[in-house]
Order: sequence, then structure tokens, then C-alpha cells
Amino acid sequence: MNTEIIHIDEENIDTGLIEKAGDIIKRGGLVAFPTETVYGLGGDALNPDSSRKIYSAKGRPSDNPLIVHIADLKDMDLIVREVSKEAKILADRFWPGPLTMILKKSDRVPYETTGGLDTVAIRMPVHKTAAAFIKASGGYVAAPSANLSGKPSPTAAKYVIQDMDGRIDMIIDGSDAGIGLESTIVDLSGDTPVLLRPGYITIEQLREALGTVDIDKTILDGDCKERPKAPGMKYKHYAPKGDLKIVSGTQENVIDKINSLTTEAETQGKNTCVIATEETCKSYKCAHVKSIGSRHDEETIAHRLYTILRECDDEDMEVIYSESFDTSGMGQAIMNRLLKAAGHQIIEV
Ligand code: TXA
Ligand code: MG
Repeated sequence: MNTEIIHIDEENIDTGLIEKAGDIIKRGGLVAFPTETVYGLGGDALNPDSSRKIYSAKGRPSDNPLIVHIADLKDMDLIVREVSKEAKILADRFWPGPLTMILKKSDRVPYETTGGLDTVAIRMPVHKTAAAFIKASGGYVAAPSANLSGKPSPTAAKYVIQDMDGRIDMIIDGSDAGIGLESTIVDLSGDTPVLLRPGYITIEQLREALGTVDIDKTILDGDCKERPKAPGMKYKHYAPKGDLKIVSGTQENVIDKINSLTTEAETQGKNTCVIATEETCKSYKCAHVKSIGSRHDEETIAHRLYTILRECDDEDMEVIYSESFDTSGMGQAIMNRLLKAAGHQIIEV
């Protein structure tokens, strides 16, 4: 398949091009598009064939449900059984934005889109190109992250092109994703709201809005035997090709341990790298040290994480050691993704 690549400036949207992209979706095709979190791989959420195509383009298991993206709050009514009080509160505070809500689905949403579930995940992105594209597509765009299954979510069009060129009809090349980690997911389909995937909207913010919000235990705990409630969270995700391990402890101990581990790996001739912070990057002896940003700037760390993991692949890193981060605020999302990328391998020092 020939994949057309178009450029759209979020601040000066070419409506002709957006209509063209929307027409592809209406005809049952697939278009990758930018959002504020990561790039999405879009198809018509109400067309079962489109959802099947998304799974096959990504190489993704079809029991892993897709998020339905909307651009207008009132469009939610058609796809859910009922807009609950909690959903109204969260939509009012955080939409459009990086929050996905799970509600009981209406009959209009095919099971192909929800991976066989009776619930549907819904998000209204704030990115202007995404919103215009969703409107031009008929209002309901099912979209997982636009990476091949098992790779880090793409934060820039070049990574979408790497993974999807030849597999889909069109890629909209927009700006780099501002946030860089996927949306926060909260399940509102049961009695108590449950956080299923941490993201830019933090658990603290959700609790401030709703009161009690439970946390799916599997989010940070690698030994947890329970099944994650978001089916996608059970798959090994975001894994770089190299062997990534996280080293956790006091700054001094972490630096000493990583220096001895990287020296050992380099002596064995392995291409080795360290994921460090602004505060520590000069303290490492390893030939390849990548700074992910200042330890005090969680937004930059979140924004850089997937790019650094992709760079490790591009540079054929075989052994990777990363520092660990606090789990308060957005740190919960950062550590959730980093732990998954590392297959939960942590060295405590
Ligand atoms: O930021 C984002 O959310 C991006 C952009 C493109 O919007 N999308 C994204 O989609 O990250 P994806 O498919 O990579 O992740 C969706 C997650 C999966 O873990 C999936 O299992 C979960 O949402 N999910 C979707 N529908 C669900 C449902 N009805 N119940 C529980 N989990 C659901
Ligand atoms: Mg994904």
C-alpha cells in the first residue's frame, strides 16, 4: 500500500487536506494523526471493518480494545448507555485533554472496536489538528497509539513513518506530541472510579474532582498476580530491543552501581548506555549517556522518555541502565511506562 504523508500546521489548518483525511476514514481507510499525548492510528470507530484493519496494521491482538476519539461533547451520547455524573464532572474539568473515560457502551459501538467488551473508552483530544480531523471523519475515530505492537508509542511523525509506512493510507505529519505519554485512563463503568493507566492527569487531580478513586493494583507492581483491567496493560509494552534495567536508591549509590555495571558490560564488548538526569549525567563513565531532563521537571522527563527508548533502538544499544524516579504526580505515569519497558527489572542499591 502506498502511504500518503501530508503536513498540517496546527495553527493554520489546511481544511482541504483535513477533508481529504476525513474522507479516507469515512470510506473505511486508516489515517495516523497527531494528538497532545502521542500519535494515534485512526479508523472509523463505528465500522467493524475499520477496527479489524487497525489491529492488523499494528500487529495487535484483537482482544485489546481501542479508544474512541470525539471532538464534540454531545457526540458522547450516541456511543454510551448513560453519561454518568462522574463523567460530566471529568469532562467539564479535563476535556478536551489527555483523559480517557470508560463507560458502558451503546449498541452503536461494534464489539470489534471494544475488543468484545460491553464498555467503551472515550477521549476528546485538545490538539487542534486532531479535533479538526475527527470532525471531518464523521465524529468517531477509533485510535490506538500509532506504533507497531510492542514498540514505544510515537511522539513524532518520523516514528509513525518508521512503523506504519506502507501499512496505512495516510499519515498526518504535525508537531511533536507535547505530553509524550498516553492519556490517563479512568474506568467509570463500575461503582467506584478506578485509575487503569496513569498519565498527565494525575490520581491527585482525579481524586480532587471525584473523591474516592481506586488504583488498579497492576499499575506499578510487577509481582501482582491480578489481571490488569485495561487489557492492553497486560502485554509487554514499550520494550526497547536492548536489555533495560532500572537502578534505584540514593543518588550516590545509583551512580556507583551503574558505573560498575556499565564498565562490566563495555568490557564484554556490549553497546551500552545510561539514561541519566541533568543532575547526574556528568558522573557516568559510560561512552553513551542520555540525559532525560532535570529530575525536578517531570513534564520534560515524560516528554523525552519514548524518544530516548526509540533512540536506544536506532543506535542498537544492547544494555541500558536507567535511573529511577519518584512516583508522585506525573512520576506515577513515568515509572509505570519505564517499569514496563524494563519488564519490571529493578536493581535496588
Ligand atoms: O493518549 C492516548 O490514549 C493515545 C492517543 C492516540 O489518544 N491512545 C492510546 O491508545 O494510547 P492505546 O490503544 O495504545 O491504549 C488504549 C488502552 C489499552 O491499554 C486498552 O486496553 C485500554 O486503553 N482500553 C480501551 N478500551 C477499554 C475498555 N473498554 N476497558 C478497559 N480498558 C480499555
Ligand atoms: Mg499503545
